Amino acid sequence: MAKSMEERSSAGGKRPDKSRYQLKQREKIESEVFDRRTLIHISKIMKKGIVKNLDYPVSTGKEANIFAATAPSGSMLAVKIYKITTSPFFRKKDYIIGDPRFAKIKWNEWEVVYAFARKEFSNLEVCERAGIPAPKPLFLEGNVLVMGFLGEEGLPYPQLVQTVCEGRFLDSILENVRKLYGAGLVHADLSEYNVMMGNDGTAYFIDLGQGVVLAHPKAMEYLERDVLNILNFFKKFGFARDFAATMKFILEKD
Ligand SMILES: Nc1ncnc2c1ncn2[C@@H]1O[C@H](COP(=O)(O)OP(=O)(O)OP(=O)(O)O)[C@@H](O)[C@H]1O
Ligand SMILES: [Mg+2]
Repeated sequence: MAKSMEERSSAGGKRPDKSRYQLKQREKIESEVFDRRTLIHISKIMKKGIVKNLDYPVSTGKEANIFAATAPSGSMLAVKIYKITTSPFFRKKDYIIGDPRFAKIKWNEWEVVYAFARKEFSNLEVCERAGIPAPKPLFLEGNVLVMGFLGEEGLPYPQLVQTVCEGRFLDSILENVRKLYGAGLVHADLSEYNVMMGNDGTAYFIDLGQGVVLAHPKAMEYLERDVLNILNFFKKFGFARDFAATMKFILEKD
């Protein structure tokens, strides 16, 4: 009976399997920029006419890269590409496991990252429906999420941490937290890094991949952590608020 490639390469002892070696090399080269599956997703998005051009990176991070892109209409888009190879999402499975919307996913690397991308997309849809300032969700293909660009003349708005802090920013953020809670969601990764400030003082929530529904067993814990992160940040600039009173404001029904 013919031996499989694997058996043949191990049968000879130390002889390296050339095709596997080449495959590894190819993966290595591709993973420096985009891996094969990501490239396929990007090319599908372009063929569908959602994105005409990926222009330049606006942010490169551990979990994702964000690109400025152009739509066929000429308008600007943001494309978030979740990283697979160095993905830290595996450690963050808790955010998915307790969320009934994503209870049935398979636990390989790709599926976890895809689930985070789906989660971010549907959380952005919740924001859109509830009138919470956030990027407009436009299209999702695997680990590639296309959304509205937050910024002007090709420059993204600053993150909260990059602005000269003002008290009214805090009001607008807490109002968003309240609305989001009213819409059944907790951001769960809220901080001065995941809020972008528009020129008119509008606070936009971004990076909603960790956002959970209220049925999540840790939803309240995450909500309190979000609120504390924000209050502690503003406190440094002299805008102190009482935690209990703020929670009451958020949890209060209209
Ligand atoms: N819709 C958008 N329009 C313009 N810029 C954006 C948009 N979304 C994100 N950015 C920019 O990209 C940065 C990173 O985005 P995001 O917080 O969603 O990624 P991330 O998951 O934190 O990535 P990492 O943790 O790997 O840095 C933001 O701080 C912001 O500067
Ligand atoms: Mg972020």
